[in-house]
Amino acid sequence: MPTFKLDGREVPIEPGDTIMRAAWRQGIEIPHYCFHPGLSVAANCRMCLVEIKTDRPMLMPTLKWDPEKQAYVPGGKPKLTPACQAPAVENQEVFSKSPEALNAQAHVQEFLLLNHPVDCPICDQAGECKLQDYWYTSQGKTKRKRTEPVHKPKAVRFGPTIVYDAERCIACTRCIRFCDEVAHDHVLDMRERGNKNEITVSPGRELNHKYTLMTEHVCPVGALTSRDFRFKARVWFLRTANGVCNGCATGCNSYVDFDPRHNKVYRLRPRDNANVNKFWMCDDGMLSYHAIHEGRVLQPRIQNGETRATSPTEALKLASAGLSKTNGAKIAIVLSAGFSSEDNLVLAQFGRTVLGAQKFYLGANGGWEGDNILRNSDNNPNRAGALAAVAGAPVGSLSDLLADAESGAIEGFIALGGGVAETAEQLAPLHKLQTSITLASNVGPLEQIAHLLIPVTSFAEMDGTFVNAKGIAQRFHRAIHPLPGVTPAWQTLIDLAKLMGKPLALRDLAEVRGALPSTAIGTGTGAGIGAQEASR
Ligand code: SF4
Ligand code: SF4
Ligand code: FES
Repeated sequence: MPTFKLDGREVPIEPGDTIMRAAWRQGIEIPHYCFHPGLSVAANCRMCLVEIKTDRPMLMPTLKWDPEKQAYVPGGKPKLTPACQAPAVENQEVFSKSPEALNAQAHVQEFLLLNHPVDCPICDQAGECKLQDYWYTSQGKTKRKRTEPVHKPKAVRFGPTIVYDAERCIACTRCIRFCDEVAHDHVLDMRERGNKNEITVSPGRELNHKYTLMTEHVCPVGALTSRDFRFKARVWFLRTANGVCNGCATGCNSYVDFDPRHNKVYRLRPRDNANVNKFWMCDDGMLSYHAIHEGRVLQPRIQNGETRATSPTEALKLASAGLSKTNGAKIAIVLSAGFSSEDNLVLAQFGRTVLGAQKFYLGANGGWEGDNILRNSDNNPNRAGALAAVAGAPVGSLSDLLADAESGAIEGFIALGGGVAETAEQLAPLHKLQTSITLASNVGPLEQIAHLLIPVTSFAEMDGTFVNAKGIAQRFHRAIHPLPGVTPAWQTLIDLAKLMGKPLALRDLAEVRGALPSTAIGTGTGAGIGAQEASR
């Protein structure tokens, strides 16, 4: 593979590479603002200027202060090149840390901060802002300008999700390019010139496509903030777990950012994966974390005649008693396209070996508007993984379950909850069955019509696997702690089987994963694109 030398280090070149892209792939950071590996090259911030060694150096004429003559005299300095735009050339020698390059970076940084309000204490980007990072690494001096900064509009509502602060904006155009090139919606543009320029929304429009939160995410500074996250948390208090979005069958890789002090998730961010979501997520996916804290099933509940909360121990005893008195062959096993492969696999095994059940059904959301960017029209994260759990056995829909209940072929069910397309009214006939048990993390139709409700963990409180629409099995990891006494559904079912005197052969997560069909075994890590995260 051809290489070039960057600050003395050999860097491999792939066809079409710029100096920046080749360095980025190796995890070498050349300071930059406008470069983003998922967007076209704009080369407008000039933060990435580097020196390229050549036999015919181009010298820019300058004036230099001569202390002896006490006057400016003609001089020259090497012409620097933006690394994000210059092609990487075999055997070339590039310097991003030469005195001239460092001098240029320091001055570009000072220039970008000339009119900046430096309102870091109230800025949501503080702690992950490139202006802060590069002030430390490339500038480190106080501002020399003593005049009033140029003032521009602040807290401008761009749409339902995004707020813009023009004084913080460095006019890198990442947000414009994202809307144009990824969301395919030319809703943002730049207006005015020089230190007056600012981002504006197209006349008569709002920033309201399905990927608006990505504009905030690609903004390298605090100019675009998300109304969902504004003023909610300081990022240095947050910790991160690797997640997989449960919004649809694409399975975008995510970071789940949570505050361990409050056991609370504050946001989801895209995690680079070349094979799945590249650098992006959609708005619905990024906001799906709200379900971790809203509409949760908090306590086991009996809903059969009387409605009352009960303890986890009593709930398991009641489940055992209810299932034991029902003809196992007539108990429906309702898998969930929203639950992990591990949960579905153990439910299927529980049905087969503990109950002797033979009939399987699948609860699933009814679909939403997909697109050819990321969103899959199947808004369930794990339909493929749930179906793989029964290893080819026929799986009916909830309409089939209603018909079988009506005909008497089914006398009870045990279900993994989660969202389903059917309403509680449509499913109401199932409430008349002899036994109905739902294991759920969130409220929903299947939770409302069950005689016995057992809370289980959400995706943020457990390790698990989703298989996406392309058949890629991806693992996600626990972020926050579960509610006291609440376990993952697979663990609850293992405990229930033991209580019923028919323990499963599976005892822990490793054994459950060992029993997953080969199509549902996740690798745990995404196929990252570069050695360096692209996001900020
Ligand atoms: S709002 Fe952010 S992403 Fe858009 S041009 Fe300004 S600094 Fe760049
Ligand atoms: S496209 Fe689907 S998986 Fe990706 S972020 Fe959106 S909802 Fe989540
Ligand atoms: S990153 Fe190269 S000019 Fe902005």
